[in-house]
Amino acid sequence: MDTGAGHLAGKHIVLGLSGGIACYKAAELCRALIKEGATVQVVMTEAAAQFITAVTMQALSGRSVYTSQWDSREASSMAHINLSREADAILIAPCSADFMAKLLHGRADELLSLMCLARPIDKVPLLLAPAMNREMWAHPATQRNMVQLQADGATILGVGHGFQACGETGDGRMLEPAELLEDVIAFFTPKVMAGQHVLVTAGPTYEAIDPVRGITNLSSGKMGFAMARAAREAGAQVTLVAGPVSLPTPRGVNRINVKSAQDMHVAVTALAQDATIFIATAAVADWRPAAPSLQKIKKDGSGDAPKLEFVENADILASVAASDAARSGKLFCVGFAAESHALAENAHAKRLRKKVPLLVGNIGPDTFGQDDNAVILLDEHGSTELPRASKLFLARQLVGEIATRSRAARS
Ligand code: CTP
Repeated sequence: MDTGAGHLAGKHIVLGLSGGIACYKAAELCRALIKEGATVQVVMTEAAAQFITAVTMQALSGRSVYTSQWDSREASSMAHINLSREADAILIAPCSADFMAKLLHGRADELLSLMCLARPIDKVPLLLAPAMNREMWAHPATQRNMVQLQADGATILGVGHGFQACGETGDGRMLEPAELLEDVIAFFTPKVMAGQHVLVTAGPTYEAIDPVRGITNLSSGKMGFAMARAAREAGAQVTLVAGPVSLPTPRGVNRINVKSAQDMHVAVTALAQDATIFIATAAVADWRPAAPSLQKIKKDGSGDAPKLEFVENADILASVAASDAARSGKLFCVGFAAESHALAENAHAKRLRKKVPLLVGNIGPDTFGQDDNAVILLDEHGSTELPRASKLFLARQLVGEIATRSRAARS
């Protein structure tokens, strides 16, 4: 089974470390890049070697680490040329304030800055993961340098917010290795959804019976979160309306948390105005208690269970698909179908009933909570099966399919 790993297969990344306490995170980042199939060549400044040893980085990357332009392994001492020519990207993580200033001025007094200056600027992208104290980050000099470095062609991956090694709290932490990995994968992903505004629903909804009880379902939200991540990787602006799940928000995705189907409906109706693609992966509760109690329902001693009455929730997907935006072709709608049996027939009928151009069918009990899935795609031309794979791998495939179909639908 395809696990979805290896999204950086064939990519050669030069991972540059400048001096900063965040060097400890570079070890995990190196591992993560390799796990995704990249080859990693580590280059460290002298200052970086004060924070982490070359031995650690060598063991993790499986390649000897370069720290000096006078390295005798390189013919004619041309490490700065040779290393940059082979790279698909140079990623500086951590990138200190001092190293940013150095890059800005085109200084080249040690191997890492020399290599960045000597890189073929059109062929080898430079990605920077800044890491510094919050005051250093906020300083006008650093902010000015950041703007100019972007103008010079570098990609700044941003910084995290939180507790800093110096004891202060604020902006300037290096992003976590998993976040940087997401950004690097996104950087290399073809931008088939550039310019699209994608709205995704995900997870279950929760319908209150009283303040402490409610009904929900087994949806984990993983497929919807994977769709949001894959759409963002493909260059879309993504808004994710999530039911109650405890999943981390994909990088660069705007998340709106909701609880009930009614909340989700209100949020989606407003957000759909600006969307160009709507992907409904949420397992929306079909019914809600007609009159949820404002206070906890107590046992009355009779031994009888309370009688609950239900009303049907609005069908969010069907209502968006019936909107002017969808009918005029401005908004492309994609539904999901969670079935327990007769997948193709039920999904086919559901696509027609909801009036959506594309429906993705899956067997709910086989996939709820799992990391993998197998789906069938149905459109007006027929059906295509996508075999079992990780949800992220499938989501990336689906984003490609949706991008092609939505383009065709508009032309
Ligand atoms: N959906 C929705 N609003 C609802 C119910 C479903 O937007 N109130 C969307 C889901 O997000 C999904 C699609 O409709 O994209 C199909 O959902 P599913 O639960 O498979 O089907 P139902 O419409 O609930 O039909 P049934 O329960 O009869 O299978």
